Amino acid sequence: MIFETHAHYDDEAFDTDRDSLLSSMQSNGIGTIVNATASKYTIEKSVELSKKYPFIYTTIGVHPNDCDEMDEAELNWLEQMCSYEKAVAVGEIGLDYHYDEPSVDLQKKWFEAQIELARKVKLPMIIHSRDAAKDTLDIMKRLKAEEIGGDIHCYSYSREVAREYLNMGFFIGVGGVITFKNGRKLREVVEYAPIEQLVIETDSPYLSPEPFRGKRNSSLNLPYIVQKIAEIKGISAEQVIEITENNAKRLYRL
Ligand code: NI
Repeated sequence: MIFETHAHYDDEAFDTDRDSLLSSMQSNGIGTIVNATASKYTIEKSVELSKKYPFIYTTIGVHPNDCDEMDEAELNWLEQMCSYEKAVAVGEIGLDYHYDEPSVDLQKKWFEAQIELARKVKLPMIIHSRDAAKDTLDIMKRLKAEEIGGDIHCYSYSREVAREYLNMGFFIGVGGVITFKNGRKLREVVEYAPIEQLVIETDSPYLSPEPFRGKRNSSLNLPYIVQKIAEIKGISAEQVIEITENNAKRLYRL
């Protein structure tokens, strides 16, 4: 079955129909969902969801755009949360220079701290990196992130940068952008990368694939992403589903 490696079902966009939507997942072929977190608040909601639904797992981490009020006490709390049995990764962590805030120095500080947290608790990392290709890679190389492993979520950089991450053993997270008219760069990365290092994700409620671009996204749209990968790789949709499910299980060690 399809393995959704990254979605945000704690988001208020799902407040009106969260339970009916999640209850429909398995009958629609979505076997497993990892709910990605971005802040203390979303971690609490995500853990609740994972307790309610056997097929939902959670990450534990603070997003670069949410680290402005982070402190040592919160880092300790994150460490405790990582021992929860359905916590499968530290994330999403990283750098996001799309907006000016929080400052680059603050983002780097808490990115590095959470890389060390992942090393300590022995969980893979879910990396969020936007408009920050060089700094992200520099930090990950300096801190030997290849010893920890994980996934570059919603991959948006070039093939050259992808090669670096693939050589470090990281997985590349492929989402709705692969269906966009202007998604050529991602399609080239998917063509180039070994299929054993690709995982699929929606980042719901964001980034709906075509033909639903701009609307609320959900894991039910993953077949559109599967289909595109199948076309690029010249294999069947069933093969893409099976291989990326196995990849996701290796990524999250399930
Ligand atoms: Ni996300």
